[in-house]
Amino acid sequence: MAESFAPDSLPAEKMARYGALAEEIGAVLEGEPNVTARMATTASMLASAFPDFLWTGFYVVDPDKPRELVVGPYQGTLGCLRIAFGRGVCGTAAAEARTVVVEDVETFEGHIACDSRSRSEIVVPVLDRAGALIAVLDIDSARVAGFDATDAHALEDIVKRVFATDP
Ligand code: SME
Repeated sequence: MAESFAPDSLPAEKMARYGALAEEIGAVLEGEPNVTARMATTASMLASAFPDFLWTGFYVVDPDKPRELVVGPYQGTLGCLRIAFGRGVCGTAAAEARTVVVEDVETFEGHIACDSRSRSEIVVPVLDRAGALIAVLDIDSARVAGFDATDAHALEDIVKRVFATDP
């Protein structure tokens, strides 16, 4: 495991910052197979690398109710505990197994407001090595249009590295 993580030493430019962060997450998680540990560590490192993120974490597919998400490891204020597939941004990303970027949450019908400061959101599906949906990664920003295609590609790359490859 990497000995320390110094977010201040990451490059400032967003794409380079994501790239360096992905390497750091990979180094910290090397050899750790536990999915909760991988999610908690990823949420922590993303949140400390991007202080603009308001809420950073995972909703996992409930093994007892496969069409329902239940909150997993996260950093931020209190999030809702359960989200049905098809509801809100998270449930839409889960039902359609695709990344959803919402520039302005007020224009997304059915958006679930957990924190009234949230103005934009990105949700990335998390697949396991077998290609099954196991969770979604949800990040909120207090800024309108806080996320773009760079965030989408970089976050898709990170979840692929962390959850769809060997530890
Ligand atoms: N806004 C999300 C709900 C989860 S919170 O943002 C933590 C949604 O509409 O799915």
